[in-house]
Amino acid sequence: MSVYLDNAATSWPKPETVYAAVDRFMRHVGATPGRGGHWREEEASRIVDQARVALADLFRAPDPSGVVFTMNATQAINMALKGLLRPGDHVVTSSIEHNALWRPLKALERCGVEVSAVACAADGTLDVGDVRAAIRPNTRLIALLHASNVLGTMLPIAEIGQMAHQRGLSFLVDAAQTAGTCPIDMQAMHIDLLAFAGHKGLYGPHGTGGLVVHPGIDLATWIEGGSGVESEREDMPADLPARLEAGTHNAAGIAGLLAGVQFVAEVGVECIRAHEMEMARRLMELLRDVPGLSILGPSRLDQRVAVVTVTVEGYAPEQLAAVLDQVFDMATRAGLHCAPQAHRTAGTLACGALRFSPGWFTTVDDVEYAAQSLSTVLES
Ligand code: ALA
Repeated sequence: MSVYLDNAATSWPKPETVYAAVDRFMRHVGATPGRGGHWREEEASRIVDQARVALADLFRAPDPSGVVFTMNATQAINMALKGLLRPGDHVVTSSIEHNALWRPLKALERCGVEVSAVACAADGTLDVGDVRAAIRPNTRLIALLHASNVLGTMLPIAEIGQMAHQRGLSFLVDAAQTAGTCPIDMQAMHIDLLAFAGHKGLYGPHGTGGLVVHPGIDLATWIEGGSGVESEREDMPADLPARLEAGTHNAAGIAGLLAGVQFVAEVGVECIRAHEMEMARRLMELLRDVPGLSILGPSRLDQRVAVVTVTVEGYAPEQLAAVLDQVFDMATRAGLHCAPQAHRTAGTLACGALRFSPGWFTTVDDVEYAAQSLSTVLES
C-alpha cells in the first residue's frame, strides 16, 4: 500500500482533468498568452482569462481583473506586503505565521516598517480582542493566515476583517492552506488582498498561485517587465492584472489550475471540507490511543483544517517520517514545516513535529493504515 498524507505541502494525486488540461495546453495550444497574433495565442489568453473568472467566482471577488497570477502564495504575499507597506507603517500579524509572511515582514521591519505579532494560544487560537488592542494610529494593515499549516487552526478571519474595515485598515489573508478546502468570500470576510496557492487545495500544478486584489487597493509594482500590453510605456500598465504580472505566464500550469478550480467548484468546497475533516477526525480518534502521542492544535473540529500534527515522546519526528516513508511507503512531513513561529507558539520549536495531512483523495483505509503503521513503529 502507498499512502500520500502530505496534502498540506501539495495535493496529490490531482484530478484526471488537471493532467489532461496541462497535456492539452502543452501539446495543442502551446502559445504565450497576450503575446502573438494567432489563434493559439487567443486560446492561451482565453484559458488564462477563464482561470481568473473561475478564481474570482470561487473567492467571491468582485472583479476577475484583480486575480494576479504568481508562482506560489509566497510571491503573492511578498507582492502584497511590499506593494503596500512603507517605512513608518505598522502591521499587525499573529504568532503562528508561515515564513511566507513572516520573513517578508521581518525584511520590511529592517526597512522601517513596524510589526506586531499578536500571541496566539498554544493551540493557535487567536483572541480578536488582542488583535484590536494591537492596532496603533499608524497601523496600515492586518496580515494573517487563514489556517495554520502546522496546528491546523483556523483564525476568525471574518470577524477580524470586519474589525479591520471598521478601523479603515487593509486586510491581507494568506489562504495557502484554505483555498479550495474552506469557503472563502472576500466580500463577506472583508478581505482586501487574498494570497492563494494553486497547487494545494485547488489541485493545480506546482508553480501556480496568485494574489486577488480587491478594487480600490493600490499596490506598487514588485516586478517590472514585458506585459504584452501598452509596450510603449517605460513603466508598467496602470490596470490590473497587467500592472502586477511581468514576463511570460506559467500558462500550462494555469491551464491545469483552471481544471483544478473547476473540479473544486463541481464537487463543492463544503463537500471537500466535510470529507477532509472526516478523514482528519478519524485519524485523530485513532491516534489518541497511541501512548506518548500529543496532537497539536484545537480540539474543536470546527476550528481546524485537515492538518494533524503530532509529537511522540522519545521519538524524533524526522526519524518517524523516514520509517513511515521507507517501510510503509507513506508520505508525511516532519520538522518545522517552514513555520517556526507556529512551532514556537505550540512549544515544539526545539524538536519539531510530524504532520499528516489528508486531502480529497484520502480514504478511510489510508488513515487507518497511517495510524496502524505509526503504532507498529512505536511498538517495535
Ligand atoms: N507550506 C507548505 C507545507 O506546509 C509547503 O508543507
